[in-house]
Amino acid sequence: MTVLTNLSPVPVAAPEIHLAGWTHTMQRSVLRRMLAVVSRPGILSFAGGLPAPDLFPTADYAAALAQVLAEDRGALQYGPPFAPLKIHIVELMAQRGVVCDEAQVFLTTGAQQALDILTRLLLDSGGQVMMEEIVYTGIRQVVAPLQAEVLPVRTDLSTGLVVEDVIDHLERGATPAYLYVIPDAHNPMGVSLSEEKRHRLAAAAAAYTLPIIEDDPYGFLSYDGRCLPPLRAHNDAQVFYVGSFSKIMAPALRLGWLIAPEALISKLTVIKEAGDLESSSLTQRAVAAYLDAGHLPDHLARLQAEYRARRDTMLAAMRRHFPPGVCWTQPRAGMFIWVTLPEGIDTAALLETAIEEEQVAFIPGQAFAQPGVRADHYMRLNFSNCCLADIEEGIVRLGRVLEGVL
Ligand SMILES: Cc1ncc(COP(=O)(O)O)c(C=O)c1O
Repeated sequence: MTVLTNLSPVPVAAPEIHLAGWTHTMQRSVLRRMLAVVSRPGILSFAGGLPAPDLFPTADYAAALAQVLAEDRGALQYGPPFAPLKIHIVELMAQRGVVCDEAQVFLTTGAQQALDILTRLLLDSGGQVMMEEIVYTGIRQVVAPLQAEVLPVRTDLSTGLVVEDVIDHLERGATPAYLYVIPDAHNPMGVSLSEEKRHRLAAAAAAYTLPIIEDDPYGFLSYDGRCLPPLRAHNDAQVFYVGSFSKIMAPALRLGWLIAPEALISKLTVIKEAGDLESSSLTQRAVAAYLDAGHLPDHLARLQAEYRARRDTMLAAMRRHFPPGVCWTQPRAGMFIWVTLPEGIDTAALLETAIEEEQVAFIPGQAFAQPGVRADHYMRLNFSNCCLADIEEGIVRLGRVLEGVL
């Protein structure tokens, strides 16, 4: 099952066709290939990063959609960003402690597009970006075509990225186009930035005029009281905030937003038009109608209660069934737990055993590492996509796999 470990470049399908230079070093999407292998029937999978399908707001969204289709003649037409949705986003941001106005809200086709558009706005080809050594794979895919130099930043598994690393790079004369940060419930490590680090990072961004892209898809999925205000609440000059409806409603909406200085919105519009002209008029209106009807607070409360139970079930089962020598993060929000095994244990090899002998799956840490960074003794576990009984059973199985190597 070498499909799980092979990180070789993507083979050229049609050698007679000239491809852009950067595609020759393009990595296969390891994550996608792993997910294809581990989603075989019968496998208990903690591998994906999917929300729970049983918690999608299907009926209320269907009603909102039907209403929009019946009443709004613009719903199926090309059209400008839907202004009433921006008003809702301003209200959502206020719940996160961020003050902004509609003129600073830019609607996107998911958070992923926001990362792409902001990168096109800020990063020159061959320029520098700063991000953690172990990081969300989607941001690496965004910067790859621009052949950026990635300045690495370490992560403390209790308090988030190491601010001293950021400052060291800057003091040594680096001029990154931006620093990429996930403030809450890091994907893949599950950690949230401490309050003290939020203040220090926001201050450093101001002192060094360092743009920050703050990616916050999980900030509303908090299980131990509210998440702390994001960096954008501390610095509205340098921080570009990115939000998403994928995890709080459903990923298939493909709807997200970013908060940027009003003066940059027209440039962002031109960049977005090159990609997809605009996000779906229908979806923007239907989500606005869903929010108008006041469904989101109850829905979020339900998501938080369900995901809290899933997280707690997984953590309790890990305490009972994982052998000594294994430790893990305690996420306050989001969907992921990051497990650390003793160095020398290769979780990619372990995954093959886990699938073949115990029909249980996870993502090996190496899938999230920058080139040259060793992360092979880590694994990412997702707790949002399985019911409580499957979480318990999957952790029992994984415990047996770990007993076999520890
Ligand atoms: C950290 C992070 N950023 C961005 C995204 C993409 O989100 P969206 O579905 O809104 O494009 C994800 C999806 O899992 C994510 O984990």
